[in-house]
Amino acid sequence: MQPNQAQALYWSSESGQKWIWFETELDLVFSAVDDALIKRAATQPGERILDIGCGTGATTRAFVPRVAPSGKITAVDISPAFVSHARDRAKLTADNTEFVVADAQSAEISGAPFDLVISRFGSMFFADPVEAFRNILKQMKPAGRLTIAAWAKAKGNPWFEAPKSAAVKILGPLDQSNPNAPGPLGFQNVEHVVGILKEAGFQNVEGETATVELAHPGPVERVAALASNIGPAARIIKKYDGSAGDIEAITEFVVADFRKFVGSEDIRIPANLNFFTAQRVG
Ligand SMILES: C[S@@+](CC[C@H](N)C(=O)[O-])C[C@H]1O[C@@H](n2cnc3c(N)ncnc32)[C@H](O)[C@@H]1O
Repeated sequence: MQPNQAQALYWSSESGQKWIWFETELDLVFSAVDDALIKRAATQPGERILDIGCGTGATTRAFVPRVAPSGKITAVDISPAFVSHARDRAKLTADNTEFVVADAQSAEISGAPFDLVISRFGSMFFADPVEAFRNILKQMKPAGRLTIAAWAKAKGNPWFEAPKSAAVKILGPLDQSNPNAPGPLGFQNVEHVVGILKEAGFQNVEGETATVELAHPGPVERVAALASNIGPAARIIKKYDGSAGDIEAITEFVVADFRKFVGSEDIRIPANLNFFTAQRVG
């Protein structure tokens, strides 16, 4: 089996493809994460960007105006279905973007060398993260920057805690022997990731946990369905071959938990995220 084949299979499975089914909700809820990345990235017009694990391309599209008119974004993903979906959306615009099917751990990526590497929740899945970030570093310009976002610990993170505890109660646990194993929570430990980036050759590496508000216009049932169908609950549902009834039961639990976040105008769920910035020097 190729190093990241398990991830390639997962993201092309029904569980992974839910990121396409729930794209509208995802684009709304995670746009705050794009804003946080944009704030940290200090992008300049004309720059070349690499988006790692781009999924359906929301973050790529959020960065397009930052490099316009002459900049270019290459977005890579290991899942052909995501890339094809993102390409179809890009056909509707004149964006200077290229979506490529590639394993970012080992691929030579077209559009290199890059001024900036970004990723929203797309870089915690590498079988060998040091090798992956070494490969990425090689394809950056001298003084190129990296800005990525990942989930912080599930505990105290309702987006993760509520669906995960419901899924564990209804179906069963995932094997949690290694908290840093590739997966949605693989970069939950800031020091661990700072170590990976340094070992890969990055300098000026910094990591911080920050709280971002995930906002959705409602109703709460829609947000709860999203949180129940992707993330750690999705992996539990896949492992135990959960039925539609199981997913409904998980969603009901999440609706009850998320009600406390319903405000007069929208639903705002605080999310603890880890942001990492680093540079190629020389
Ligand atoms: C949690 S999703 C995030 C997608 C997107 N960045 C977003 O925020 O909507 C993780 C993505 O990483 C991709 N991925 C996982 N391993 C990868 C690899 N080795 N190379 C490229 N993409 C990968 C998956 O296919 C998936 O689209």
